[in-house]
Amino acid sequence: MSKFILQCQGVSKSFTDGECQINILNSINLDLCRGQTLAIMGASGSGKSTLLQIMGGLDQPDSGEVILAGQSMMKLSPNMISALRNRALGFVFQFHHLLVEFTALENVMIPLLIARQAPYQARRQATSILKKVGLGSRLDHRPASLSGGERQRVAIARALVNQPECILMDEPTGNLDVHTATQVMTLFQQLNHDLGTAMVVVTHDLALAQSMQHQLDMQDGSLNQP
Ligand SMILES: Nc1ncnc2c1ncn2[C@@H]1O[C@H](COP(=O)(O)OP(=O)(O)OP(=O)(O)O)[C@@H](O)[C@H]1O
Ligand SMILES: [Mg+2]
Repeated sequence: MSKFILQCQGVSKSFTDGECQINILNSINLDLCRGQTLAIMGASGSGKSTLLQIMGGLDQPDSGEVILAGQSMMKLSPNMISALRNRALGFVFQFHHLLVEFTALENVMIPLLIARQAPYQARRQATSILKKVGLGSRLDHRPASLSGGERQRVAIARALVNQPECILMDEPTGNLDVHTATQVMTLFQQLNHDLGTAMVVVTHDLALAQSMQHQLDMQDGSLNQP
């Protein structure tokens, strides 16, 4: 078994803007060990979300490769990537991407149902994690009747509920007040401690960054020590 849960090897990405090519990621190398936690900071537009999407197999690099749990995603079929991702990765997007037709509870149950858990068990597990993010009294609300921070916490609960080995999070505390952000941070630490969950967190929040074991700074397409 690979000691790394996630690796980037020479990951590069550029976007074309009219005739202009803009290099966003410049041969990024990154090794994340199982159970490790990492914060990625850096200016707006520096490429943090782009890197996270590539790490999660949601976007393709122009060159280089991403290796998830020892398997190169390039060499897998889309179906195999989905299966591996479903098992090993949780994802919290910068924008919540909740399903608007479904309640908070249903949104959090979905990954468990996809993983073929019995509905009653999925309901129990989803309820428990929603309580942990402080939403025990919002289970039956649809996204439209939740606040921005509540939606964000539902998205966090959804990413955590099937206890993936690694969670990728883009600004998970961006819309939260200090008190709620601290609660969420404590939950991350518990998960890391109790289950050995590895995490990559993209954030502008210094307190959250410092609660991770390692910090890196995205600048000019590279990851550097801050
Ligand atoms: N699909 C795309 N087409 C063209 N340019 C893009 C695309 N996606 C991102 N970019 C550009 O790539 C750069 C990096 O974007 P990215 O979203 O990764 O930044 P970020 O570091 O996450 O910023 P923020 O902190 O504001 O979320 C930006 O300049 C953005 O405009
Ligand atoms: Mg971003």
